[in-house]
Amino acid sequence: MIIAIDGPSGAGKSTVAKAVAKRLGFSCLDTGAMYRAVAWRALADGVALDDAEGLGRIAREREVSFVHEPGDPMPKGVAIDGADVSTAIRTAEIDRAVSPVSAVAAVREALVAQQRRIGRSGDYVVEGRDIGTAVFPEASVKVFLTASAEERAHRRVRQNVDRGVGSIDYGEVLADIRRRDDIDSSRAASPLKPAEDAVRLDSTGRYIEDVIDDICALARQALARP
Ligand code: DC
Repeated sequence: MIIAIDGPSGAGKSTVAKAVAKRLGFSCLDTGAMYRAVAWRALADGVALDDAEGLGRIAREREVSFVHEPGDPMPKGVAIDGADVSTAIRTAEIDRAVSPVSAVAAVREALVAQQRRIGRSGDYVVEGRDIGTAVFPEASVKVFLTASAEERAHRRVRQNVDRGVGSIDYGEVLADIRRRDDIDSSRAASPLKPAEDAVRLDSTGRYIEDVIDDICALARQALARP
């Protein structure tokens, strides 16, 4: 069974996807981490972000895999060609590089094929931008999770403080979020948009636990369907 959770960055997808997967005993697939790993490899190899052919080659030829503790279905990180890049893909540099990388059709084609292979191997909560529309249009539950750009920027600033990464400027974060939303929603290849049959949830001003409850309820309804 697939539960698809799509939405813009900072809407709370990762937190929600992990919690829902844990409650239901599902695995979790963070597709954004795969695009980030390809972006990381491109920067490391000096492949230009407008070199669609070079980027496509990385996505096709370099193996992106998830790092697991033995016996734990929940991945603890992501690797490319065996190198654990879980921390390296969470920098501001990768934040900036990943949008153009994920807009390349050849990159999407290679990663989507891999996402389908992984998702079909078991019960998964899959989070991304195009899961309900393109990767798993047959998903049993489709959620489009949003939050206002202002709330997402506040969360991001708080997250950096909590992680001890240092403070970042709220105005800059907000501008960056709006810029990424624009690129992700207006690109030709699988733009960010809700599937017609997706349930739209807005997490603005809501406790994340309540959003998790809502999605688990949708999953239980789907599981109960004949
Ligand atoms: O969810 P995230 O912020 O880690 O995603 C990183 C980038 O990858 C973001 O710019 C959107 C893109 N992405 C995508 O195009 N399709 C997906 N299924 C997941 C992420």
